Amino acid sequence: MLSALASVRLHFLRACDSVHAGLLCASNKLPGKTFLKPHTICHMMTSLDGRLHPSCWSKSPDGALADWSALYAQVQDALGGDAWIVGRVTMAEMTKAGPHAPATSTSTRRPHHFAALDAKFYAIALDRDGKLHFDGSLIDGGHVVVLLGSNVSDNHLAELAGDGVSYIVADDQEMSLLPLLEVLRRELGIERLLLEGGAKINGAFFAAGLVDEFSLLVAPALDGRLQSQSIVEFGELGLSDKVRLKLTSSETLAHGTVHLRYSVS
Ligand SMILES: NC(=O)c1ccc[n+]([C@@H]2O[C@H](COP(=O)([O-])OP(=O)(O)OC[C@H]3O[C@@H](n4cnc5c(N)ncnc54)[C@H](OP(=O)(O)O)[C@@H]3O)[C@@H](O)[C@H]2O)c1
Repeated sequence: MLSALASVRLHFLRACDSVHAGLLCASNKLPGKTFLKPHTICHMMTSLDGRLHPSCWSKSPDGALADWSALYAQVQDALGGDAWIVGRVTMAEMTKAGPHAPATSTSTRRPHHFAALDAKFYAIALDRDGKLHFDGSLIDGGHVVVLLGSNVSDNHLAELAGDGVSYIVADDQEMSLLPLLEVLRRELGIERLLLEGGAKINGAFFAAGLVDEFSLLVAPALDGRLQSQSIVEFGELGLSDKVRLKLTSSETLAHGTVHLRYSVS
């Protein structure tokens, strides 16, 4: 598992250069409904000024980006997730396939299609408009699951199914996140979900109150650019009235890094 996850992380960071297993559960309540969702841990690597793109960070005598990335992957492995989930932009850095005709004449099913119900690990992406394409069912060892908006075409669903990819179509085009997480838990047995960016998807999860823990690997580096993305972004509104973080642990790791963990309420 570690090597696959390390590979994922290194992939993220290379792409960026170009621009307990405990059965924890959590519930969220909407009027009249209670959903069981996976315990969700946002896990990110950041510079001291909270920035997202490691290729733009200053150097350090303590270590190099490859060292920090390897540590990030080790911490990720220790967090013990059943799956990671990323935004469309981040997933686009990991799949370079273009649109193509469905590989098989599979009839399309809604609201979901699962090509693998017993995968050891799942690689999940939000893709509201069906912009992502794949050339197989695995990303770095994880079985791919795409979460899509309700307006997605049957043709795109057929393409995904033909590639052996699983998908879930949301009830709405805006994609309410909580019901989608509930499906991930109920249908695929995902108990522990690692939310791994980028900024926008992290922001959407924090704003919706869906993050239980924040795990942050802080590297001894600065970005400092005026318009550089931060690791969590939520538009003009921000998150000041939406989250409360409580420090649960801090540990100094190798290569000048610090691992911080917070509970989120
Ligand atoms: N430092 C780290 O540890 C780390 C980790 C991961 C990624 N990254 C970096 O982060 C960068 C990408 O970050 P990003 O913020 O630009 O993009 P992102 O969060 O990966 O993806 C954003 C996209 O996801 C979709 N999205 C956002 N909110 C949504 C919601 N509530 N429901 C459904 N879909 C939603 C939208 O897609 P549409 O535009 O299609 O609607 C949005 O444009 C990459 O360069 C990557 O390398 C860094």
